[in-house]
Amino acid sequence: MTVTIVGTQLGDEGKGALVDRYGGAADVVVRYQGGDNAGHTVVEDGEEYALSLVPSGAIRGKTGVLGNGCVVNPETLFDELDALHDRGLDPDVRVARRAHVILPYHRRLDGIEEEAKAEDGEAIGTTGRGIGPTYEDKAGRRGVRVGDLTDPDVLREKLEYVVPQKRAVIEEVYGLEAGAECDVDALHEQYAEYGRRLADEGMLVDCGPFLAERRAAGDNLVFEGAQGTLIDVDHGNYPFVTSSNPTAGGATTGTGLGPTVVGDGEVVGVVKAYLSRVGSGAMPTELDGGDHEEALASDIRERGGEFGTVTGRPRRIGWLDVPVLRHAARVNGLTGISLNHLDVLGGLDELAVGHAYELDGDVIETVPATAEQWARCEPVRREFEPWPDVDWDAVAAEGYEALPEAAKTYVEYVEAETGVEVYAVGVGPDRAQTIERVDPWERVD
Ligand code: GDP
Ligand code: IMO
Ligand code: MG
Repeated sequence: MTVTIVGTQLGDEGKGALVDRYGGAADVVVRYQGGDNAGHTVVEDGEEYALSLVPSGAIRGKTGVLGNGCVVNPETLFDELDALHDRGLDPDVRVARRAHVILPYHRRLDGIEEEAKAEDGEAIGTTGRGIGPTYEDKAGRRGVRVGDLTDPDVLREKLEYVVPQKRAVIEEVYGLEAGAECDVDALHEQYAEYGRRLADEGMLVDCGPFLAERRAAGDNLVFEGAQGTLIDVDHGNYPFVTSSNPTAGGATTGTGLGPTVVGDGEVVGVVKAYLSRVGSGAMPTELDGGDHEEALASDIRERGGEFGTVTGRPRRIGWLDVPVLRHAARVNGLTGISLNHLDVLGGLDELAVGHAYELDGDVIETVPATAEQWARCEPVRREFEPWPDVDWDAVAAEGYEALPEAAKTYVEYVEAETGVEVYAVGVGPDRAQTIERVDPWERVD
């Protein structure tokens, strides 16, 4: 049985918390795309863990796998593992030999390209982790894969081919000086050492066969999406996107298991009860129209702790964007939704959603294909009765019926508009602060 967890919006919906929640019944938790641009938070009895590469299930002692669709910075990985060891955990993490390696020149180029775009006001606001340049090299067939790190001759050959190209781009295209990130000998020494450590610690796997074997043995698998549907390179707000496929299709190409495996299981979309965005790009429901809206956004930002897990950047805040959810339900083939952060909206004086968009005189109910069109969309608002701030721990303990009536109306509205059942409702960051209506592990079609 598999459960795939995807972000339905612009990232930071609370995927980590849900993966951890469903991780109780899982044996293996697999990241299938992205890299250390992700920041997933797990809170267990008040203890908070912020993870960027280690799969969220590892906090519960499950096997975590970084699938072939991921891009891996070994330095971040080992730092994160060391930090978890210092906190008394011993995570079992495996890395696909087919995953691509983020090298220092990828991070340098990420920064250089962002600066160049910023001059024309076109910066994407990337996390600066080298994600885009690494996926470019993967598609350009000049990438270094994790498996290459364990063969010093292959690693040298690849670096000798690619590094002069990076140097030329830095020096001749951008007129900057290349530095240590283009020193083949130093890179070779450092990355061959990472390869040795990965091999010595038994962390390397052939992802597809490894997972197929675990599945055949009856194990439950969670596929942990990073980022979100609207920053998917194909289905998102291109070019203000990340360079991978966070949507559910990515779970098959990024793990080596077929679409029937993913489609045979459950696909749960994580929805934040409002909207947040870190980085540039349109956001039709953004609360940025004057002092009143900005004060509201700031209130939600503070209450929801809406500051980047990876970069610390304040997140932009908006009302729930329902066309985005309809788009996400279709693209991902959602079987269920987890609707989080209802507590953050408790006690507001007003509450609204963007029910549809107005674009060039037409009312549309889903997301248009181009960034320019999306930027011109005006939300068609629908007002909701706000619910009070209540004792959310007590609500979590009692279950769905204990939710304030107005909050239930909101949950049921999301179900009606997406055509997808709300399996879980989040009323706080802690593992215990989720109300479960349907357990996907028990759902048999
Ligand atoms: P992810 O990237 O999707 O895993 O989400 P992040 O961890 O970046 O951001 C989500 C934040 O919301 C984290 O601080 C979580 O601990 C927190 N969180 C998750 N679910 C809820 C919820 O229902 N209510 C509140 N208040 N916080 C939540
Ligand atoms: P999680 O998994 C929110 C955004 C960046 C930028 C764009 C491209 O925690 O939900 P990149 O560094 O990937 O090339 O940046 O995507 N972004 C995220 N926003 N949550 C994330 O991950 C994100 N990962 C990337 O801010 O706009
Ligand atoms: Mg995050």
